[in-house]
Amino acid sequence: MGATDRALRGCARLAPVVTNRTRAMKVVAVINAKGGCGKSTIATGLAAGLARKGLRTLLIDMDPQAQVTQWLGAGDGLTAAGTLVAAFSGVSTLGEVIQSTAFENLSFVPSAEVLEEVGRRITEFEDYPTILAHLLVAIKRLTRCPPTD
Ligand SMILES: Nc1ncnc2c1ncn2[C@@H]1O[C@H](COP(=O)(O)OP(=O)(O)O)[C@@H](O)[C@H]1O
Ligand SMILES: [Mg+2]
Repeated sequence: MGATDRALRGCARLAPVVTNRTRAMKVVAVINAKGGCGKSTIATGLAAGLARKGLRTLLIDMDPQAQVTQWLGAGDGLTAAGTLVAAFSGVSTLGEVIQSTAFENLSFVPSAEVLEEVGRRITEFEDYPTILAHLLVAIKRLTRCPPTD
């Protein structure tokens, strides 16, 4: 089974979980269908700026071109392991694919090119808009209850 099918199977498992528990977490999406209009630049600068202000910030690369992933040296943009795709598929938790960065308060989730095919087929699931929310809720629970040792 390929990375896309694994990811879609994971999404099918996650999608029915409808939740509003991410409310306290502020989510900013930088989206535009047009390429080259500054999405990656804005997302990276915004995340770095928020982290600099002292806010714990998680930058998630959801672009199959994985440009930010390569800018940060966080992956080759080709390998699905250790990326958002692995979290969608359930191979890893979102927490397991979060990387620290050189910046205090700024963490990062890399992307991979297979996300393009996953993105095309993810709409097969009725509740697909909740998939990322579900993953975020899980890491929020983890950060609320850090290990005590
Ligand atoms: N405010 C800006 N002024 C000038 N050039 C910019 C600005 N924002 C981004 N760029 C440049 O425009 C190009 C495309 O930006 P990028 O963030 O990669 O776009 P996208 O992610 O939408 O494809 C890059 O070369 C980037 O350095
Ligand atoms: Mg980009």
